[in-house]
Amino acid sequence: MTEPNIVLEAKGITKQFPGVLANDNVNFDLRKGEIHALLGENGAGKSTLMNLLYGLHNPDKGEIKVNGKIATILSPNDSIALGIGMVHQHFMLIPVFTVAENVMLGDETVKNGSLDRATVAAKINEISKQYGLDVDPNAPGSPASRHSTAR
Ligand SMILES: Nc1ncnc2c1ncn2[C@@H]1O[C@H](COP(=O)(O)OP(=O)(O)OP(=O)(O)O)[C@@H](O)[C@H]1O
Ligand SMILES: [Mg+2]
Repeated sequence: MTEPNIVLEAKGITKQFPGVLANDNVNFDLRKGEIHALLGENGAGKSTLMNLLYGLHNPDKGEIKVNGKIATILSPNDSIALGIGMVHQHFMLIPVFTVAENVMLGDETVKNGSLDRATVAAKINEISKQYGLDVDPNAPGSPASRHSTAR
């Protein structure tokens, strides 16, 4: 039986990409309140393991349990519903979307049948202020498209 304070348990996780065995029978337990650092050389399979836990990839073998129950994580929607979040190593923004549109992607706030950008922008402003960040909710998602829209 799973120890009650283990909130996330990955057992025997295996992921094969063409020509590369990225994760080979990986076991990982996370107890409530723990912070882990995953170390390994480039290409060791760190991001692959996190992407599997976040539902961006599906394992070829293995089992993931959340709070002691077997979790079926087929997409980020499933992992988010289970309380798993992800800060990506590489930018995963849609460059032509604004900051606010990127933030609400997948969890759209809708008012009167259209995207409620104003509510999301206000929330972003509030959080930015709280953490001393300079974020413009209406700026384009990437510096490259910022240049192209400025022209
Ligand atoms: N979508 C993919 N398709 C094919 N091969 C992939 C894919 N993603 C990762 N790989 C391969 O799987 C292996 C593990 O890659 P991964 O990105 O998990 O490593 P990493 O430990 O995160 O490396 P880094 O320190 O460079 O971030 C590498 O050989 C990589 O080329
Ligand atoms: Mg990586």
